[in-house]
Amino acid sequence: MRPSILLAAVAAESIRAILPRATVDCPSCLGLLSQLQPLAKSSTDALVVQLTGLCIQLGAAPADVCSGVVNGAGPVLATALRQINVTGPTGERLCGALMNVCTTKTPVPFTVPFPKPPPVHPKVWKSRGRVPFRVAHLSDVHIDRGYTPGADANCTKPLCCRVFPDSPPTPSAPAGPNGNAHCDSPVSLAESMLAAVEHLQPRFSIFTGDVAERLVWLVNQSDVSTDLHDFNVEMARTLSAPVFPSVGNHDTSPVNLFARSTSNTVNNSQWVFDIDGRDWARWIRPAAASQVTHHSGSYSALVPGTQLRILALNTQYWYIQNFWLYDSDTFQPDPNGLFSFMVSQLQQAEDAGERVWIVQHIPSGGSDFSVDSSNHYDQVLQRYKHTIAGLFFGHTHGDQFQIAYSNYSARTAENAVSVAMIGPSLTPNSGNPAFKLYEVDPDTYELLDSTVYFTNTSDGAFQSSPTWAPLYSARAAYGPLVDPPLPKNAPLGPVFWHNLTVAFLANQPLFDAYIARISRGASASVCSDADGCRNRTVCDLRAMRSQDNCDVPTPGFSLRRRMEGEDSGLVETKCEGVGLADVFRAMAGWA
Ligand SMILES: *[C@@H]1O[C@H](CO)[C@@H](O)[C@H](O)[C@H]1NC(C)=O
Ligand SMILES: *[C@@H]1O[C@H](CO)[C@@H](O)[C@H](O)[C@H]1NC(C)=O
Ligand SMILES: *[C@@H]1O[C@H](CO)[C@@H](O)[C@H](O)[C@H]1NC(C)=O
Ligand SMILES: *[C@@H]1O[C@H](CO)[C@@H](O)[C@H](O)[C@H]1NC(C)=O
Ligand SMILES: *[C@@H]1O[C@H](CO)[C@@H](O)[C@H](O)[C@H]1NC(C)=O
Ligand SMILES: *[C@@H]1O[C@H](CO)[C@@H](O)[C@H](O)[C@H]1NC(C)=O
Ligand SMILES: *[C@@H]1O[C@H](CO)[C@@H](O)[C@H](O)[C@H]1NC(C)=O
Repeated sequence: MRPSILLAAVAAESIRAILPRATVDCPSCLGLLSQLQPLAKSSTDALVVQLTGLCIQLGAAPADVCSGVVNGAGPVLATALRQINVTGPTGERLCGALMNVCTTKTPVPFTVPFPKPPPVHPKVWKSRGRVPFRVAHLSDVHIDRGYTPGADANCTKPLCCRVFPDSPPTPSAPAGPNGNAHCDSPVSLAESMLAAVEHLQPRFSIFTGDVAERLVWLVNQSDVSTDLHDFNVEMARTLSAPVFPSVGNHDTSPVNLFARSTSNTVNNSQWVFDIDGRDWARWIRPAAASQVTHHSGSYSALVPGTQLRILALNTQYWYIQNFWLYDSDTFQPDPNGLFSFMVSQLQQAEDAGERVWIVQHIPSGGSDFSVDSSNHYDQVLQRYKHTIAGLFFGHTHGDQFQIAYSNYSARTAENAVSVAMIGPSLTPNSGNPAFKLYEVDPDTYELLDSTVYFTNTSDGAFQSSPTWAPLYSARAAYGPLVDPPLPKNAPLGPVFWHNLTVAFLANQPLFDAYIARISRGASASVCSDADGCRNRTVCDLRAMRSQDNCDVPTPGFSLRRRMEGEDSGLVETKCEGVGLADVFRAMAGWA
């Protein structure tokens, strides 16, 4: 028998009783999991009905959003609750994902095995000063194929611009055809960006993931299948050069939930890897396409006519919002063999005298990246630092970067070993739609410049025909302002970006300009010294390893919410959309 809504009401009272607002902490979250465990053990339905009732009752979200979100993630949570010791280490990790409590910066010790020691004499890559080539970096397009011009852009859901069953007959703010800040991207906006990219004639493009719209309570497997395939077709139709894409956390359904190979389920997202493997073969060639299909969405492929290999990783097995990671108490240092795949491809590249660019969705330095996996990831970066010439991430929707150091206790210019470029999003929900264009040295594959192109949604002509223009070039805007100024012809390497963070701490207007650029001038967020924001932000820029970032977990707030705060200046991740964490947040009294 299904528990009634009345029962849910009783549970809401009792859950509020064990989780009064002031004391949301690790023990109370573990206590909540202990309360939910018998429900999950009685049946998945029982848990889903109960959580849906609570979500609605506590006003965490509108009823349709509650039921869509809980129907998606609830069954995986139920599986986890049935299979783990909810008061043990796995329960603590689950509480980290759900309520931002029980978090730790101390990874489980694990030494990543490498097939060979580092080379004694690593290959030296020398620039001959030849004409650079261009590469476009696209990210987080979040195309909503249900976007309806004229539908209300002012609605009660997390995202608007669709006609919902309960939309008022007369919209108060009719959406224009090309996009709105309260909505994900219409197809026309994506096509406009692709045309702008094609006009710039890149040698190739990289795409750091997240195709699907974030109306996660509505989208199902057939919607996401269409989303993935249609965008692959649109890229192929408009871009004459190859694209090297990677999979994002929104590129499956239910969102984020990529099962591990050890999970007991039929929906392991293989359908995602089948679609992308088929569709990407035109760019990455059949051997790499077969890796996509057989290695959970990851692959490596040589860029034709170069010694540059693209290594695209499906980071979702390292993502704390993937609840499949909590379905067993057995610690898995390498879910789905992703690290062993990464190492094998890097070793082959090193042996072949190639350089590698890593292309992936989720930045390894954020607090939503497992602290364990981030530590393992850093071990791989350190081992192959001579082979890796670039890292490209998305997910945060912001124009940002992260630096890795050989010694995180001494984050100095001398110790800076790698830098990751984080690409801005297309979706107008996180700032003005944008992409990056790199100038690349054809001998070293290092970046000589990075220019953000954007379209201004506040511009009068945006709804009739969006125009794309450079916002700024990193070399022009930052090169002269670091101390000493960046020498002519020097690449934008890790040491340059480190020196820029030093300049940020010395030069408030320069730092303010960086903060404004994160959202392409759309958000008026302020990041000052008054609350330590500038120091914290610089610390996060200097932390490609998540255990070294300066995020302070705020219990009850999901990471995403905290970072979205207009005043935080961090805009850490806007990727998530509404999720199960919001339901738990409401239970904690924060709704
Ligand atoms: C569950 O974990 C807790 C905390 O580590 C431990 O005290 C308890 O013995 C564990 N229970 C079982 C059944 O293993
Ligand atoms: C948005 O909708 C609400 C409720 O329908 C209405 O009260 C409000 O005035 C609208 N806001 C705008 C900017 O149209
Ligand atoms: C998926 O959702 C769409 C509406 O977005 C609906 O038309 C379709 O029937 C659904 N498919 C399945 C398999 O539930
Ligand atoms: C890392 O830096 C710290 C602080 O300067 C220093 O004490 C330590 O010896 C360094 N570690 C290594 C391995 O160089
Ligand atoms: C970074 O700054 C240091 C001085 O702190 C300087 O020695 C070095 O040349 C600079 N590097 C670059 C790439 O600008
Ligand atoms: C976008 O356009 C608005 C309105 O013209 C203008 O105020 C704003 O400065 C522009 N933003 C950028 C980043 O150029
Ligand atoms: C920022 O951090 C540095 C040390 O890293 C410290 O000296 C300085 O006082 C901090 N500034 C603020 C405003 O907190």
